[in-house]
Amino acid sequence: MKNYNIVLLRGDGIGPEIVTEAVKVLNRAAEKHQFTVTYDEALLGGIAIDETGVPLPEETLQKCNAADAVLLGAVGGPKWESQPGNNRPEAGLLGIRAGMGLYANLRPARIFKPLRDASPLKGDIIGEELDIMMVRELTGGIYFGDRGRKMVKGVPAAFDTEMYTVPEVERIARVAFNLARKRGHKLCSVDKANVLESSRLWREVILRVAKEYEDVELSHLYVDNCAMQLVRNPGQFDVVVTSNMFGDILSDEASMISGSIGMLASASLGDGTRGLYEPIHGSAPDIAGQGIANPLATILSVAMMLRFSLDEMEAADAIDAAVAKVLDQGYRTPDIYTEGTKKVDTVTMGQLVVDNL
Ligand code: NAI
Ligand code: MG
Repeated sequence: MKNYNIVLLRGDGIGPEIVTEAVKVLNRAAEKHQFTVTYDEALLGGIAIDETGVPLPEETLQKCNAADAVLLGAVGGPKWESQPGNNRPEAGLLGIRAGMGLYANLRPARIFKPLRDASPLKGDIIGEELDIMMVRELTGGIYFGDRGRKMVKGVPAAFDTEMYTVPEVERIARVAFNLARKRGHKLCSVDKANVLESSRLWREVILRVAKEYEDVELSHLYVDNCAMQLVRNPGQFDVVVTSNMFGDILSDEASMISGSIGMLASASLGDGTRGLYEPIHGSAPDIAGQGIANPLATILSVAMMLRFSLDEMEAADAIDAAVAKVLDQGYRTPDIYTEGTKKVDTVTMGQLVVDNL
């Protein structure tokens, strides 16, 4: 029987509550699909600061880099807000992505049918089905470029530099094309090539890589137009690939189309199959400890882990289907509750998914 080593980074706030439910679901999936999972725990974020003084202890990174995959709850909270910037919980998050060499951030924006009413978009705009995969470059571009302050014409100024190397664009392009190949064979690359030189390079490289993927229909959009199209006609998108900053903004926009932050999963991948999986939401300090957090984003992140790191496609599909079933049966945590549905807490929601597996 195959065994997988998974590191759990429960983190802060609701992190431990939602990771517990996701582990229950993974264990059930393992039982049913005949593999085993060995867990190791490590510290990240505020809890790591409390226990070791730093948000990303060396030991955590070592464990993660030896694992088959990593499952993260969320980090941060008011308790650590007065920490200096480089020693905040969120710095641990950037550190682990960089330390694991994860340069591709995958964020599905998807609407489960029973939750259509939660979307801020009207039904006719959503259409029959909505399932977009945003692929954001995660370790290059303006967030990692030269920055600083200087005097310009006698007045104080600041600058940040957008820069991409050819290999950086090539590797993210391949991730996106490979995904498109496994999905709807459609890829939209988003840039600002009418203004930015870095975007012109981006587009050149995308076009070159596209020659290896002639079965994928490639299109290009300027980022401002893409922002518009996402709320005007989101159904036109299957896989979208873009730079770090554009992806930061567009993936938040795309995720909000689905209306509920408690439902959205993510994966961060590098060159091998090892990946980091986490819900896109934060540590929700306002509801932490109350047992009412929605565990589905984390559970769906486990499904992504099975799909992208562990190659357990059937188990991945089964979890997606179990989540859809629980929603069909009308069960809702408070964040997605609407009149006429059945309100349940975190643990019950986790158990319902387990039961439906
Ligand atoms: P947040 O995502 O934690 O919360 C925003 C709102 O959504 C809150 O009202 C919260 O109760 C609700 N919410 C979030 N997840 C939910 C869930 N699973 N079920 C039900 N309701 C949920 O964002 P916020 O408040 O801006 O940040 C709180 C802390 O989390 C901060 O310290 C922030 O830096 C950190 N954060 C961490 C992230 C991560 O670990 N990847 C990502 C975003 C924020
Ligand atoms: Mg963001």
